Amino acid sequence: MNTADHDRGVRLAEDLAARTWGAQRSFFLVNGSSSGNQAFLLASVSPGDEVVVGRDMHQSLLAALILTGARPVYVTPRLHPTLHVGLGLTVEDVTAVLDAHPAAKLLALTSPTYWGVASNQQEIVAAAHARDVAVYVDEAWGPHLGFHPRLPPSAMSCGAHGAVTSPHKLLCGLS
Ligand SMILES: Cc1ncc(COP(=O)(O)O)c(C=O)c1O
Repeated sequence: MNTADHDRGVRLAEDLAARTWGAQRSFFLVNGSSSGNQAFLLASVSPGDEVVVGRDMHQSLLAALILTGARPVYVTPRLHPTLHVGLGLTVEDVTAVLDAHPAAKLLALTSPTYWGVASNQQEIVAAAHARDVAVYVDEAWGPHLGFHPRLPPSAMSCGAHGAVTSPHKLLCGLS
């Protein structure tokens, strides 16, 4: 049972958060974005399902995948030529993997990455939707994205089915 099921104040705050971040429903989490990754994946994929996922995912998303028993199909991020930092996923690389795995149930992105790089979510989400694949974004490092037009667009504004975010990382949420 969710806290908000019996606490009207929490439910009201969750509804305000949903409106603020552009979701139909928002859930406050205990145990951070890690538990959001687990909750969304456990709710949306089954053992043996293929999940297309960036190799630049956070370890909590990998742990969530292991819990589901789904099979990861990896998209490799491009690396910066001298810094060797991941540059996120390209729509071309994601599309190639989606086309090679037409039975994939879910595309799971981590954007922005731990290194602060945002993928082109607008195009990636559109490519996944064109193939009837749902999209989930680990947006732990992007709680601020929806609040300024010069920032990359947020997962929800790009049409992702779900996203987790961490106000305790880049905003002022308590850890
Ligand atoms: C991209 C990403 N996702 C998820 C998490 C997990 O967040 P939390 O510590 O809130 O469980 C982190 C933590 O650093 C992260 O960087």
